[in-house]
Amino acid sequence: MTELELHDVTIQGPRLTLRPLREADWPLLLRWNSDPEVLYYTEGDEVSAYSLEEIQAIYRQVSQSAFCFIIELGGRPIGEGWLQRMNLERILRAYPDQDCRRIDLLIGEKDCWGRGLGTEAIRLLTAFAFEREGADVVWACDVADYNLASRRAFQKAGYAVVNEIEQPPGSKAHICCDLALRREAYMGRKITIELPRK
Ligand SMILES: CC(C)(COP(=O)(O)OP(=O)(O)OC[C@H]1O[C@@H](n2cnc3c(N)ncnc32)[C@H](O)[C@@H]1OP(=O)(O)O)[C@@H](O)C(=O)NCCC(=O)NCCS
Repeated sequence: MTELELHDVTIQGPRLTLRPLREADWPLLLRWNSDPEVLYYTEGDEVSAYSLEEIQAIYRQVSQSAFCFIIELGGRPIGEGWLQRMNLERILRAYPDQDCRRIDLLIGEKDCWGRGLGTEAIRLLTAFAFEREGADVVWACDVADYNLASRRAFQKAGYAVVNEIEQPPGSKAHICCDLALRREAYMGRKITIELPRK
């Protein structure tokens, strides 16, 4: 069985702390990933819940190529997010010589939606990607047309829509988009964030 790949990076922002995902976090991940309203936004198809085994398999697999974090607000876990090596062929083919990473996140505590916290988490993961990991381009992939909060949060963090991909008839979304931020553009609008030393 693949184990959760652990790391020791903690990222401190103005309001949020991103700390490493741990084996003890399964109850949180299961609860957030069992909420139909959250899943409506995170899943392309109609997924109404995941089992513990499915959740463990997903996060353990992703952690092999990602830094996975729990997002905390004043010590309260409110969501998760990761910075992962690009795994989509269409992007790897188009940017063969670039170090491409992707950010995925969910704020599972819904009373925390719409308070700028998603944007802050994206900014922190973005700073980590460029300033500590040396990424060339960071992506948000397959953002559905009905997920306006996600698209807007990435745009507020400096990302721009690069690809618009029409979805097959009958899909929940008509169009999904990829947003990206390049290193040069990031450096031009850099924010100051305390990052742990390597
Ligand atoms: C997507 C998500 C991470 C965004 O985090 P958040 O903390 O809610 O977002 P923020 O408050 O930082 O920013 C959201 C922006 O979208 C805007 N927004 C939200 N709903 C909107 C809507 N229906 N129409 C237009 N704009 C909308 C907000 O007004 C805000 O923009 P503003 O600051 O210019 O007013 C969070 O809502 C979430 O986890 N959702 C469920 C899981 C998910 O969708 N994950 C991403 C999958 S791609």
